[in-house]
Amino acid sequence: MKKTEIIPVHANNPQPEAIQKAAALIIAGEVVAFPTETVYGLGANAFNPQAVDKIFIAKGRPAHDPLIVHISTIDDVAQVAVDIPDFVWRLAKNFWPGPLTLVLKRQATIPLNVTAGLDTVAVRVPNHLVALALIKASQTAIAAPSANLFSGVSPTSAQHVLADLDGRIPLILDGGMTSVGVESTVLDCTISPAQVLRPGGVSLQQLREFLGQIDVFTKENGEAQAVRSPGMLDKHYSPRAKLYLCLSTNAEMYRPFFQKYVQQQLNLGQKVGVMSAKEDEIWLKEQFPQVEIITVGSENQPEQIANRLYSALRELDSRRVDCIFSRDFGEAGVALAIRDRLIRAAFEVVRF
Ligand code: TXA
Ligand code: MG
Repeated sequence: MKKTEIIPVHANNPQPEAIQKAAALIIAGEVVAFPTETVYGLGANAFNPQAVDKIFIAKGRPAHDPLIVHISTIDDVAQVAVDIPDFVWRLAKNFWPGPLTLVLKRQATIPLNVTAGLDTVAVRVPNHLVALALIKASQTAIAAPSANLFSGVSPTSAQHVLADLDGRIPLILDGGMTSVGVESTVLDCTISPAQVLRPGGVSLQQLREFLGQIDVFTKENGEAQAVRSPGMLDKHYSPRAKLYLCLSTNAEMYRPFFQKYVQQQLNLGQKVGVMSAKEDEIWLKEQFPQVEIITVGSENQPEQIANRLYSALRELDSRRVDCIFSRDFGEAGVALAIRDRLIRAAFEVVRF
């Protein structure tokens, strides 16, 4: 296929020429990869079903997985959704621009391939000047999933996008590393109380402080969920290597787990990687000098871990490890989103 062009762009002061070039592609019905504060998105004109189809083709994404519609200002919600309740306006005013996606009743003008045939639509205002400038210059709403191959690890840099989509898309706007590092929180506002379908950059604590009661999707109500949000239960965010997750934040639990499982894999002649907290780094290096260790941050700073999570998984894959081990990082703030992604990415979850 054609060559993929990468244009560097200042994250805080995007060059108008770069934005114009990308917007011209969106207007012409093409797809463009661009940075948001969470992960890179692969965008197309949300009102052009043929353009939206190109997103699914480039990613290899099945049609039953709906996309998020990105707008540049809260005033444009009414172009995308109808019957917007009062609490949604309050939420949007408080959390936008930011990593919160609201599921609302769909406006009839939104093509059905955007919403995978659902009568609801997911919408957010991203907190990134490149994304906002691109949406404005394109004079439309932009439908965009994460800019990775379907079911793989989401991209937090232009290089990640290129590694997955080289030759499959015409342009990547390179605004450097994203800041949040995990995707937006998806909140279904069409039911009462509102329900978190996917934890993300805005924490459950923040939402509860603001709104009061909020439900969270769990396995127990998973059947209803599968109908309302297809795609959510699929295996996702997976590196090539097999990820083993020890679902504990207690060193007395996960260290013996590492000792047993890592040794087992080494005995089998496997190349082993570990995604480590700062607190475990020295211990791990002493125990396993022959293992690839990437430290993602302190267990007390989940924002830092979220920021490095996907690049660590991609880096371990590029070092060609056969398996990756990780502990859990708890559920405070963005740590809940980290746990969600690790569970979905895992080949095996070891529970205690
Ligand atoms: O941070 C993010 O949200 C990034 C950036 C690019 O904005 N986007 C992203 O998109 O993560 P994607 O396609 O990888 O994830 C979208 C999620 C999916 O889990 C999908 O099921 C859910 O949003 N979703 C989209 N429309 C929905 C709807 N109408 N009802 C329920 N869930 C929906
Ligand atoms: Mg995705």
